[in-house]
Amino acid sequence: MNRATVGVRSGVDVPAGLVSDHGALAPRADFPLLAAKPRLHYLDSAATTQKPASVLAAIQRYYESANANPHRGAYALSVAATEAYQAARAKIARFLGVADADTLIFTRGTTEALNLVATAWGRANVGAGDRIVVTRLEHHANFVPWQQLANDVGAEFVIAELGANGTLDLDSLRAAVTARTKVVAFGHVSNALGTVNPVTEIVAIARGVGALTVCDGAQGAPHINVSIDSLGVDAYAFSGHKMLGPMGVGGLVMRRALLEAMPPYQLGGDMIANVGDQHTTWNVLPHKFEAGTPNVEGPVGLAAACDYLSALGMDRVIAHERALAALAMQKLAEIPGVTVLGPAVGERGGVVSFTLDGAHPHDLSQFLDADGVCVRAGHHCAQPLMRALGVHATTRASFYVYNDAADVAALAASVDGARKRLVGD
Ligand SMILES: Cc1ncc(COP(=O)(O)O)c(C=O)c1O
Repeated sequence: MNRATVGVRSGVDVPAGLVSDHGALAPRADFPLLAAKPRLHYLDSAATTQKPASVLAAIQRYYESANANPHRGAYALSVAATEAYQAARAKIARFLGVADADTLIFTRGTTEALNLVATAWGRANVGAGDRIVVTRLEHHANFVPWQQLANDVGAEFVIAELGANGTLDLDSLRAAVTARTKVVAFGHVSNALGTVNPVTEIVAIARGVGALTVCDGAQGAPHINVSIDSLGVDAYAFSGHKMLGPMGVGGLVMRRALLEAMPPYQLGGDMIANVGDQHTTWNVLPHKFEAGTPNVEGPVGLAAACDYLSALGMDRVIAHERALAALAMQKLAEIPGVTVLGPAVGERGGVVSFTLDGAHPHDLSQFLDADGVCVRAGHHCAQPLMRALGVHATTRASFYVYNDAADVAALAASVDGARKRLVGD
């Protein structure tokens, strides 16, 4: 690991034309919680986002007009529930650039989607002496399932290291990916540093040896205009609650041939075609991987969230977040003792992680909370990355469509105020 190139103060390159009164992309009034708390500066959208009224209304409408157990009943209400569920799948697939909607498997979120791949595909395809490659930037959800699989089957577990300013070192990845490599698992965007990974290059390296490419899109799909089909990855995982949708729903998109060839993940319910006394056969996609009564309100709410994001325009979403991140980096860098971690604006999404000399991130975040500024403090479920950065924890502000320059100003003022109290002038 290259300690010399990480944990440095970032170059702050604010895009031309950014003005300090940069407004929100989405009206605060669309979000009932934010509307009810006008003094709140919610800067923890990488953890979970607030929900627009249209998402809440879609869920309520579903329960008031179509609620029944889908797939199971021949009666009209059950058919309506099934239709709502499948229509949501079709809409979310379209939003994510997935032509074959039945290759979108609903899960509880990214964590479950990645565990599904590591367990169902991994145990059928990775053996002793094989190699699994992940990156130093991974969230634990895309690290631990692979580490565990490697330990269980006797495969090698290899970490591609960081390059400059918290980017991925592609040479380290090239060196790690050998002919024995079966899987390359990587994040689209780092939740801890905001680094946007070069997906095309990573996929090309993995493809060169025929390895499966698994992309953790938890911080990609909510922010970037993603077309999963064009990314060229074999599997892509995402969480609805990080993209204005409800908690408890997300998905795995995976190539049809792989899904059809691999064994199911969980057993029971609608994933079954025929149960004999000794043997059972599996239902077709997507049902094969959706055991038990499905979560219908989740996809219905997430489909409404996709409508909301489509209306805003995903290209505008990432531009807005980058502008706020750039402003935050600039304002924070002016505060004595603050070090902003991670890459320059052009290589990151709307996440700004920083440290303040002499102050623990937990103490700092409590001071910020007293000013109504909600940030995340800790290791961000990325302990291997924190080790490489040489820190135990950081403070992280993350921006989304409802944030504006006033949120950035409140963050900077609160950090400076906390510095004076915690560290002194
Ligand atoms: C990059 C990344 N991967 C995976 C996850 C896990 O997502 P979930 O808790 O929704 O399963 C998160 C959540 O913070 C994340 O940021």
